[in-house]
Amino acid sequence: MKTQVGIIGAGPAGLVLAHLLQRAGIECVVLEAQTRQYIEERVRAGVLEQGTVDLLNELGLGERMMRQGLMHYGVELRFGGRGHRIDFADLTGGKGVMIYAQHEVIKDLVAARLGAGGEIIFGARSVSVERLESEKPAIRFEKDGAAKELECDFIAGCDGFHGICREAIPAGVLTTYERNYPFGWLGILAEAPPASHELIYANHERGFALMSMRSPKISRLYLQCKPEEDLNEWTDVRIWDELQMRFATRDGFSLTRGPVIQKGVTGMRSFVIEPMQYGRMFLAGDSAHIVPPTGAKGLNLAVADVRVLAAGLQEFYGSGKREMLDSYSEICLRRIWKVQRFSWWMTSLLHRFQSDGEFDRRRQMAELDYVTSSRAGMTTLAENYVGLPME
Ligand code: FAD
Ligand code: DHB
Repeated sequence: MKTQVGIIGAGPAGLVLAHLLQRAGIECVVLEAQTRQYIEERVRAGVLEQGTVDLLNELGLGERMMRQGLMHYGVELRFGGRGHRIDFADLTGGKGVMIYAQHEVIKDLVAARLGAGGEIIFGARSVSVERLESEKPAIRFEKDGAAKELECDFIAGCDGFHGICREAIPAGVLTTYERNYPFGWLGILAEAPPASHELIYANHERGFALMSMRSPKISRLYLQCKPEEDLNEWTDVRIWDELQMRFATRDGFSLTRGPVIQKGVTGMRSFVIEPMQYGRMFLAGDSAHIVPPTGAKGLNLAVADVRVLAAGLQEFYGSGKREMLDSYSEICLRRIWKVQRFSWWMTSLLHRFQSDGEFDRRRQMAELDYVTSSRAGMTTLAENYVGLPME
């Protein structure tokens, strides 16, 4: 088997890349370890930056998102028993974010690719990459028990944090930058109408909490917990009681409760490798970096990487020039570090750190007060939240 670009992983990075290449007339094959059903049901992120929304529309992939997604032009920060709205539209010249679940984006991307005759090989086993330094690198895998080899001009490693591509780069090439946080998020999906029409990020004595949503009838809520929290200790009633305490306001705010239909614990880390390229393999998305979820940047950053990669590949196939491809890491990392900074900052601003003393607590409250009262402070949050411009 032969193709121009072999893409490993059918997450947001791999699938958006496939669509960008298809539009540019560049041939590619997507290999995915899981089944179609599995990736279309995996519950993850839910906030799309304005630039991600615009790109999906530009690619003709936004029809269902525009119908079913919820466009939001602000969020609330809640602390000291009071809410403070950050008005994105006013602060960023009309920009906002779209609330639309990641697995719905995946469904739209898969359907459009298969509908256009594009290839996605699901259930690929024992995937490995070969001859990365050569002109013709290859992907080996097994499908239905048969060993296969896909020869490519380039490989895109879009296989997430636990994938094989990053690991295939020889020792000594990559530098890793990392930070772990001493807490996680317990997340639930509930059949309950959201108690507010916009997202609420709460900083409370008992810890962080976030109220998000998936539709006018389904809430998505998170609360700060221990990294190794045992879900069995959290009955639905305990979860709702804890959330209610953390969102409480002086004027009697009340969450709407309903059956919990899904729950899980997510760890929190910041992680970046440099560079994001080795020979003819380029890493994109979670395979190269992870952000803590506060601010919802993971999916959006994956999409930003592949925009740069697609532009570089388009230049290469159009004119034979490699300048942009050779600058791939450098261009992506400028955005990645700004997004790392923002996700770390939102996490530090809103969570309770056990190690913090009274000084840090008061400093944190002062920062919240500043960010919600100064136009400069609010603008910093808003312009990062809706997404920084692409270079
Ligand atoms: P992924 O979406 O991970 O896609 C990688 C794909 O590669 C997967 O489909 C995987 O099955 C496949 N794959 C892996 N190994 C192989 C292999 N060897 N061969 C072939 N295929 C392979 N972000 C937020 O902003 N907010 C959130 O609330 C949030 N919640 C999250 C919850 C969880 C449990 C996780 C894991 C992530 C969450 N994220 C969240 C992060 C966000 O979902 C990711 O940043 C985003 O999915 C990155 O896209 P990606 O395409 O780079 O990687
Ligand atoms: C969601 C997740 C986030 O990490 C966030 O900051 C906002 C919303 C969500 O899943 O809806």
